[in-house]
Amino acid sequence: MAVYFDHNASTPLHPEVLEEMLPFMQRAHGNASSLHQSGRFLRSAIETARQRVAELVNCSQQDVIFTSGGTEANNLAIKGFVAPGSRLLSSQIEHASVLEPLQQMQTSGCSTHLFTVNRQGVTELEAAESLIQQHQPDLISLQLANNETGVVQPVQQIARLGHRHPTTLVHTDATQAVAKMAVDMEQLDVDMMTLSGHKMQGPQGAGALIVRRSTTKIKNVLISGGLQESSCRAGTENVATLVGFGKAAQLARINLLERQATLLELRRYFEQQLAGISGVQLFGDQVERLPNTSFFSIPFYHGETLLMQLDKAGFELASGSACHSEVTLPSHVLAAMGIDEDLALNAVRVSFGVDNTCQQIDTLIETLNHLINQLPAVMRQAAG
Ligand SMILES: Cc1ncc(COP(=O)(O)O)c(C=O)c1O
Repeated sequence: MAVYFDHNASTPLHPEVLEEMLPFMQRAHGNASSLHQSGRFLRSAIETARQRVAELVNCSQQDVIFTSGGTEANNLAIKGFVAPGSRLLSSQIEHASVLEPLQQMQTSGCSTHLFTVNRQGVTELEAAESLIQQHQPDLISLQLANNETGVVQPVQQIARLGHRHPTTLVHTDATQAVAKMAVDMEQLDVDMMTLSGHKMQGPQGAGALIVRRSTTKIKNVLISGGLQESSCRAGTENVATLVGFGKAAQLARINLLERQATLLELRRYFEQQLAGISGVQLFGDQVERLPNTSFFSIPFYHGETLLMQLDKAGFELASGSACHSEVTLPSHVLAAMGIDEDLALNAVRVSFGVDNTCQQIDTLIETLNHLINQLPAVMRQAAG
């Protein structure tokens, strides 16, 4: 079986999550909106999941709006909570599920401006502050950690700058951050936060937009119909999936420190050995990064070619963002960091999970060295 090093794309389901979901797939039936016993049983399972998700990010249970994942939650934050003609600020390195909705909002008269990042991939605070002062935005959306580099963004500082204007809402896409770092909605001082179940050993197809509902009112419901999710997102709930998401949230909170230490150790071990390969360049390695993420280029080895060779050899990695992997454009994140296009086209991402081992890393490094040695000598010399 292939060795999986692509946990920022999706994580394997935790066995305890599956165990908790199974009865809801095998036996529990009914509709959580029904008033009879079966319906009430499902409703109470959903509310337990909601409580567990709330505890993970320190918010109140009624602020959790369940969605089908991070993409829907980002869409809801941007299209659901701003009025036509609003001023929107975000960053150049957001996930497509933020950037595309921002672009779509321009058709309803919204203006969008993007924060720049420095060469390490961190949002530039001074430039961001002047954009905020200049535009007095209605919404700021800034991710907590980047999916490609793993670089952590100054969300708390930006939120404080944003909240100097009393009507500015601040949203953070914390999809990649949860389960890899402590995430506290209060501490970050944000009004909305996006989460995704499958990035934290939960099932695919579950996520949440957390909304401080006491201060933040929905303007535009994206999926209308029934009264589910406090009338913010209609449709019969996928109970088993939400139960799994809740369990994953509970486990993510309980095991955080241990998980962080394991991931950090794996990455240290990998990067130490990677440094032995001539000319390797790591991205975002001088700043705070998610403990599991290593994004790098090997000179003269095209990222997608390397990816295919490694896949053949039994290793699953990503080149840039997994969601863009059908398109061979250089990563928009590396472009924003000012990385040369040639180097960016060589970029490969390893994202570890707790089940990876140092032995797997040894064989990956061996394979990398073997593949590099097969390159024509003239290319290797140029790289060295
Ligand atoms: C930063 C970020 N936001 C949002 C998403 C989308 O999440 P989902 O796959 O749950 O739709 C991803 C997925 O890769 C992501 O990395």
